[in-house]
Amino acid sequence: MFITFEGIDFSGKTTQITAFTKQLRACGGEVVLVREPGGTTISEEIRSLLLDPAYDSMDAVTEFLLFSSSRSQLVRETILPTLQDGKHVIADRFFDSSTAYQGYGRGLNIDDILHVHHLATHGLSPDITFFIDITLEESYRRRAQLGREIDRMERADDAFFERVRTGYLHLLETNPQRFVRIDGMNDEQRISDLIWTEVSSRLVEGEDSKEGPHEK
Ligand code: TYD
Repeated sequence: MFITFEGIDFSGKTTQITAFTKQLRACGGEVVLVREPGGTTISEEIRSLLLDPAYDSMDAVTEFLLFSSSRSQLVRETILPTLQDGKHVIADRFFDSSTAYQGYGRGLNIDDILHVHHLATHGLSPDITFFIDITLEESYRRRAQLGREIDRMERADDAFFERVRTGYLHLLETNPQRFVRIDGMNDEQRISDLIWTEVSSRLVEGEDSKEGPHEK
């Protein structure tokens, strides 16, 4: 299975991914964890370009193509071979981040973006995407609480992050089979339980369909 996690900054995705990976491994699943942008030597180089606050003049198309280049390398080098080996891949962000941040956030044309996704992902799409949803106010509250240096993407203004969240909500509406919204305001344990329940039911469904149709 190829499972991706999405959300605005400080949504708590990474904490959930760590917990979920542990659970899946405890059940005997072989799991490879990747994050975007990054995950290969070339993609990590691209990541430093993308997040460096020194490059505040970066053009939106340049930004989008760099995210896409990082993705293409990650899909070819890691994600596809891992899935072909029968293992699970869990990704901290994937192409939906580009649709939300560069499409809705920066205002690039969505159809153009979707065409490039097809190229950069080599046609691959996640089996399930968890959108951990928090409000903008909560994102800012958590950012202030953490008090760490912010990267170039996090420097964008409120209106940008509001558009990104709206973009995710739109993706949720238009991809109801793949997208699952999880309320990120729930406590950590409740969020992991919701994620686990959803994935385990899909894993069972997958096993059942391998065995052929069941009589009721
Ligand atoms: P990261 O430190 O990995 O943040 P997070 O923990 O929130 O995932 O930084 C990635 C940043 O890049 C984040 O602000 C989201 C943004 N991003 C895009 O704008 N487009 C993309 O395609 C991807 C993958 C990330």
